[in-house]
Amino acid sequence: AEDALADGPLRGRRIVVTSGPTHEPIDPVRYIANRSSGAQGTAIATALAGLGAEVVFVTGPATVPPPAGVEVIRVETAREMHAAVRAALPADAAICAAAVADWRMAAESGSKIKKGADGPPTLHFAENPDILAEVSQLAEGRPRLVVGFAAETDNVIRHATEKRARKGCDWILANDVSPATGIMGGPENAVTLISADGAETWPRVGKDMVARKLAERVAETLGEGT
Ligand code: CTP
Ligand code: CA
Repeated sequence: AEDALADGPLRGRRIVVTSGPTHEPIDPVRYIANRSSGAQGTAIATALAGLGAEVVFVTGPATVPPPAGVEVIRVETAREMHAAVRAALPADAAICAAAVADWRMAAESGSKIKKGADGPPTLHFAENPDILAEVSQLAEGRPRLVVGFAAETDNVIRHATEKRARKGCDWILANDVSPATGIMGGPENAVTLISADGAETWPRVGKDMVARKLAERVAETLGEGT
């Protein structure tokens, strides 16, 4: 079975996938996180591996188990994810499906913050590295294809199109995560692929199907040239 998988159209291609949330410690017992099960990133890694790719799966503390048959690198914070992605390069493609925390504590407390007479603490934040933007804008060793996600709650296509331009990635998969859609935490996803060619809306299907469609697109694109 291993050999059958290795024979797919992505054979010999190395692809870095980020997935899951990151956790940013506040003190030894508390953290800040984004909501993410890791289901979509895991499905993408599985689909890419199914087409024969060598996948490096960099994951934060997700709720779903990581995919089988790929190299799994577990991280906790955005800075650890950033370092792991840098170490995993060069690659033919990078797909950033992680829900990276935008901020970490400016100074993590080494001891547990206690309740007290002064009332609730004020938290001071520092901005985390933007992994997708940095990989997209690498002057040397940029993956041939860099893909990001944009989870938005309003003006989805406009925000995602602006995000693609700002970060410099090739594709953005935009999804509407408004609570009314029920997408967050659910088994399905409804995405619009935004590329230099414009916006293409895919039907709402299971995350596995979204992943397979994306993997096929990646295979078509990486198959051209070289
Ligand atoms: N991303 C990343 N590193 C970060 C923040 C985001 O790699 N520090 C990636 C995500 O994995 C995703 C894409 O960037 O593929 C878009 O993430 P998103 O949170 O939608 O974009 P932001 O630029 O953080 O903008 P905002 O949260 O303000 O909408
Ligand atoms: Ca963000």
